[in-house]
Amino acid sequence: MNNNNPIGLFDSGIGGTSIWSEIHQLLPDESTIYLADSKNAPYGQKSKEEIIALSIKNTEYLLNQNCKLIVVACNTATTNAIKELRTKYEIPFIGIEPAIKPAVNNTKTQVIGILATKGTLNSELFNKTVELYQENTKIIEQVGFGLVQLIENGSIHSPEMTQLLTSYLTPMIEANVDYLVLGCSHYPYLIPQIKEILPPHVKIIDSGQAVARQTQHVLKEKVGFNISSEKFTHFITNTDPKVLSEILNHKYHIQQKDF
Ligand code: DGL
Repeated sequence: MNNNNPIGLFDSGIGGTSIWSEIHQLLPDESTIYLADSKNAPYGQKSKEEIIALSIKNTEYLLNQNCKLIVVACNTATTNAIKELRTKYEIPFIGIEPAIKPAVNNTKTQVIGILATKGTLNSELFNKTVELYQENTKIIEQVGFGLVQLIENGSIHSPEMTQLLTSYLTPMIEANVDYLVLGCSHYPYLIPQIKEILPPHVKIIDSGQAVARQTQHVLKEKVGFNISSEKFTHFITNTDPKVLSEILNHKYHIQQKDF
């Protein structure tokens, strides 16, 4: 089975590029279109209805570009809107959710931490997952207030970032977590700073590789791979492309468009 159309991805901003990188690495022959809705970031503080409306807007844009599959490269949009997207459209959607299961299955201290947006931690989908896994494990949930805004304005390496991360992680360290789950696609860019704060035995988990493997699986089983030699990588943002370009090490041309 083959299908030469691109894979579409969207996020509230630049964070989903952490997912795009994993997909691009595993499926280098696929064309991709990445939408950064930075004008509307952060999604994490918005209502479910607003997150659904923004997810529909992004999906319509990607469908107009003939995408064959859409990766919702945002935990907040996945946990609040993927059900509605799957009901409304026939195209397959791959979502990203906090990787609680591997942390719960491997913890030795029976205490794990999760850092995510308010929208994700309050969602029904996330809370159903927590219910399944909290029987023998204490799950410490922490909203990463302010982290996405700092990443979006290019302040990953700033004293404010260190201060916020320290305040969010210290109670987890005191509670003896041995796993930290990153439940927001922006947060993998904070791993170097997080490692400086956490004791070395605490493992950090994000969902990027699992999403890439699932994308590969769905292409194989349902959609089809690109077999043409023509392939492209498009990045589109609705704000100043500077920070997106920086996070991609200036390797790609970024288009600025209204969507
Ligand atoms: N990157 C997003 C996530 O994975 C959204 C962050 C936000 O816009 O609040 O949750």
